[in-house]
Amino acid sequence: MTVLPYKDKSDAKKKQVAEMFDSISGKYDFLNHFLSLGIDIRWRKKAIKMLRDLEPKHILDIATGTGDFAIESLKLNPEKVVGVDISEGMLNVGREKMKKKGIADIIDMQSGDSENLQFEDNSFDAVIVAFGVRNFENLEKGLAEMNRVLRPGGRAVILEFSKPTVFPFKQLYNFYFRWILPKIGKVVSKDNAAYTYLPESVNEFPFGDKFLRILEKTGYKNTKCKPLTLGISSIYVGEK
Ligand SMILES: C[S@@+](CC[C@H](N)C(=O)[O-])C[C@H]1O[C@@H](n2cnc3c(N)ncnc32)[C@H](O)[C@@H]1O
Repeated sequence: MTVLPYKDKSDAKKKQVAEMFDSISGKYDFLNHFLSLGIDIRWRKKAIKMLRDLEPKHILDIATGTGDFAIESLKLNPEKVVGVDISEGMLNVGREKMKKKGIADIIDMQSGDSENLQFEDNSFDAVIVAFGVRNFENLEKGLAEMNRVLRPGGRAVILEFSKPTVFPFKQLYNFYFRWILPKIGKVVSKDNAAYTYLPESVNEFPFGDKFLRILEKTGYKNTKCKPLTLGISSIYVGEK
């Protein structure tokens, strides 16, 4: 079942997702860190470490949003990082951030759809995505596109929400995620749907072994999964 942000609208998922992220772009960074108690920062750091041995020079950050994952990837000393996103609102917040940090020459924030990438085959050493793949309209098409632009031997690192399974953490977390987080998100972002869409989309999204099978189906080898914080999120790695 496709989970849509705005249930009263008939637009395709991609259009609704872009509209939703445009609407919350000004509050996105604050809410991310506030609602996760800053844990999202640690998750991005851990995910980027999965690329240290590869020493990638050209990195593509898919669904880059405001660019936090792209910024974290600078720890790998790349020559160039390209970030793509379908939300101009998110990209604009990101572009301002890059200018302020003096890194706009190394991180290029471009408008683009992950399911139809405008890059040649085998263009990047690494393709990274944080909290993006769950929002794709067509997951397999997006993952296959990422594989297409990755060079042979290159690596994809995907950070995404998963679901905790251990009692009683699972129950406590679910209560927070389904009942508390949407209320805070709604008040702060002023978007009625975005923080209801978050737990709903996570609930429907494949995780763990199921996600690894999809990675393999879309062309990745040597896949692995590393659950984080009792399974709230997971890092998935696959090679071309
Ligand atoms: C939850 S945000 C993640 C942003 C960033 N990666 C981070 O770690 O904070 C998800 C982003 O995915 C983008 N997105 C969703 N579908 C996309 C697609 N098909 N192509 C490019 N970006 C997409 C949204 O516009 C949004 O900015």
